[in-house]
Amino acid sequence: MNQPLYAVPAEWAARAHVDAKGYGARHAESLADSAGFWQREAQIVDWMTPFTTVDESCFDEAGFGIRWFGDGELNVSANCLDRHLATLGDTPAILWEGDDPADTRTISYRELHADVCRFANILKAQGVRKGDRVTLYMPMIPEAAMAMLACTRIGAIHSIVFGGFSPEALAGRIQDCDSTLVITADEGLRCGKTIPLKANVDAALTNCPSVERVIVVRRTGNPVAMQPGRDIWYHEARDGVSDDCVPEPMNAEDPLFLLYTSGSTGKPKGVVHTTGGYLVWAAMTHKYVFDYRPGEVFWCTADIGWVTGHSYVVYGPLANGATTLMFEGVPNHPDFGRFWDICDRWGVNIFYTAPTALRALMREGDAWVTRASRQSLRLLGSVGEPINSEAWEWYHRVVGDHRCPIVDTYWQTETGGTLMSPLPGATALKPGSAAVPMFGIEPVLVDAEGQVLEGVADGNLCIARSWPGQMRTVWNDHARFFQTYFTTYPGRYFTGDGCRRDDDGYYWITGRVDDVINVSGHRMGTAEVESALVAHPKVAEAAVVGCPHPIKGQGIYAYVTLNAGEDGDDALRAELVKWVRREIGPIATPDVIQFAPGLPKTRSGKIMRRILRKIAENEVDSLGDISTLADPSVVAALVEARGAPS
Ligand code: WT7
Repeated sequence: MNQPLYAVPAEWAARAHVDAKGYGARHAESLADSAGFWQREAQIVDWMTPFTTVDESCFDEAGFGIRWFGDGELNVSANCLDRHLATLGDTPAILWEGDDPADTRTISYRELHADVCRFANILKAQGVRKGDRVTLYMPMIPEAAMAMLACTRIGAIHSIVFGGFSPEALAGRIQDCDSTLVITADEGLRCGKTIPLKANVDAALTNCPSVERVIVVRRTGNPVAMQPGRDIWYHEARDGVSDDCVPEPMNAEDPLFLLYTSGSTGKPKGVVHTTGGYLVWAAMTHKYVFDYRPGEVFWCTADIGWVTGHSYVVYGPLANGATTLMFEGVPNHPDFGRFWDICDRWGVNIFYTAPTALRALMREGDAWVTRASRQSLRLLGSVGEPINSEAWEWYHRVVGDHRCPIVDTYWQTETGGTLMSPLPGATALKPGSAAVPMFGIEPVLVDAEGQVLEGVADGNLCIARSWPGQMRTVWNDHARFFQTYFTTYPGRYFTGDGCRRDDDGYYWITGRVDDVINVSGHRMGTAEVESALVAHPKVAEAAVVGCPHPIKGQGIYAYVTLNAGEDGDDALRAELVKWVRREIGPIATPDVIQFAPGLPKTRSGKIMRRILRKIAENEVDSLGDISTLADPSVVAALVEARGAPS
């Protein structure tokens, strides 16, 4: 590994929460005396009833289960709001900037507390009770955070569906967890164009009998259809509602939220996170990974529809009393300097984004960045996919003026928060490496047979023991939870990622080793795109794999076999692209559709994805053994007709 190493700046080593020695000692302690370590660190949140048990988790089939702080009680909204009021009441909790730069709001902790209490009382008045599921389909506006916190205040379980998902995808997620209430907005805004959120909800609800009420937040003010008896305007319901709502004491293991995410097979699964462990993990990682200091402005650019938005726009920062910036817009509107203008305007100290955004901005030139001063920035973060060294170096040199450490945070929807990252006061940086495990994380590399690899090694990344932020189950399908994560390498949690450990003990995530693709830092299951494609009347069969993409990291490459008599032409390609966008949403847009008269299959009929991946990656010289195929000649035909993302 000949990567350049960036030493920890002296002032960071001197004043950060954790320095190099501290990291080593604390990580060792977190594994050697897990109970003692967590007894102390879990006090980062306020407990209504102190816990007396710490980790009761077990990864083995007999006794399987994940459980932390099991007899403790707490409330998430009380931790994110009430406990800060005495000292931070007038401090901004949320700085909001809309799609239009002139559209801004500043919401203090006191105001946010009052609005969350009102929202909670509205939910109660609509019959929402502890344990009920509430689906959010929202733009990035403060009311989205208020709705999340309002659910946590009364013990309702929120399930946020990203606003870019189609009505079909929304309906599936509502049905799976039987939500009784949906919270949405009239419309969203993106580059000045409207997104029909309420109309999408209406379309989804034709198929969702569990939903009794829809609360609609007014965002654009354009007229939308309201169904009497079902739909309620938030601004009307808010009138005259009390801003006093006692937070519900929740058991540490009561579900906090569901978040649907794609796997290598089947429908998206409802990842379940619970109250105590998740909040401890979100708050603790936010504090140490970003070396958060009271008074700082923290900006995570993720949408709250993804786990990054849950943990690092809302729960981690607010639990720590930070000022969190919430941005409705996109990096290239009104121009490519938007991110850096926002940093200057709001005095952002910590900035956290995805490599895909950096790659898109990098190619527009440095002047968009350098026209802003960026003097407030002291730390930069990256998340969602491996960051290539060019993007890393540009981020460090141009955005951070060589001054700001970069934390490359590796984690997953399932992990609740960061698993591996450099700590800015403790870890010398290697561009592209997620560096070292967080406290309590015990990474293990194994080979295909599950043999543990020691020292310098390249293998499959497992985690040997539980940590507080780990998902607890798949909603309504505990067997699938066990099957998906704990059976490939029994006794260990398997991440699905490949990983290398170098001779300094640094970890390098090499990407998914399963049938999950990472498009612009968002996870897409190949099976989902395939089932959308085969639902088209002209499609007989489809196989989807990832392909390298200069901006998105990975693109979606679809091999499509048509029904006999159908003609594969550009018009049908365009139709299929539109079809998939309608079925799933724009994030599932195929980059390449290759019509394939035949797919490489074994004699037992299994599609050999390994070969399809190689062709999509244009590594046609290393296809490996194809002699076991039922019809090896299909391979040459596929290579001949391969496509490339535009
Ligand atoms: C997958 C999880 C992390 C929350 C947002 C995405 C990839 C994530 C990194 C990183 C290399 C990364 C992994 C992981 N990934 N962060 N810093 N370096 N790869 O959450 O949608 O659940 O996706 O994203 O492949 O398994 P997600």
